[in-house]
Amino acid sequence: MKILLDTARIEVIDEMMTYFPIAGFTTNPSILAKESSHVGTTLTELRRLAAGGKMVHIQVTADTAGGMLEQAKQLNDFFGGDFYAKIPMNIQGLKAISLCKAEGINCTVTAIFTPMQALTASMAGADFVAPYVDRLDNITSDGVNVVKEIVNLFNRHEVKTQVLAASFKNMQQVYDVASTGTHAVTVSGELCKKFLFHPYTDKSLEDFKSDWAEKFGNHEITDLLSL
Ligand code: E4P
Repeated sequence: MKILLDTARIEVIDEMMTYFPIAGFTTNPSILAKESSHVGTTLTELRRLAAGGKMVHIQVTADTAGGMLEQAKQLNDFFGGDFYAKIPMNIQGLKAISLCKAEGINCTVTAIFTPMQALTASMAGADFVAPYVDRLDNITSDGVNVVKEIVNLFNRHEVKTQVLAASFKNMQQVYDVASTGTHAVTVSGELCKKFLFHPYTDKSLEDFKSDWAEKFGNHEITDLLSL
């Protein structure tokens, strides 16, 4: 399963990329409006961070299929590499997918709330679909189960479209979605860091340290190689 960071906070990505196995980045217009004071600079920074082969999924803001295609082309030229135009799940978006695919532009269809939307986007040629787990939970529609149904449908129909589950507010959602066999998840930096820690892990590591120090003092293991 690929893990992407759903943020436009460059300092968070920069720091996390030094240790976390991040496959790429996603943003949407709300994230950029909230987290970026200069979109051009943020996108340039994301391009720099993606240069080592990371995926970048950036949402178009146009309302018409023609406008989405035009923006997707410009963004694709700007990012190069493993770029995906995030296209909204609506009629104009569906038109835009085939236009983008004809130009060789990868597409991620976003704001997916039902398995049939996902299957339709897949048939239109989407490379990824992005179901919104927490937003589904907030309307008592069981986001994890929707992702599971989409994964099952895609497996049953042997489609190439991958599932990039999005909109997470807690680790249980991410864990449950991971168990469905989703291809990818996109999560905030804050939530991603929560994957790493457990107090018993810290306690175990402290115990190793004190057991070692009690017997061997300040020696490191490599100091003892030749003794
Ligand atoms: C990513 O593709 C989505 O835009 C994003 O995860 C939505 O998350 P939210 O529901 O927390 O806004």
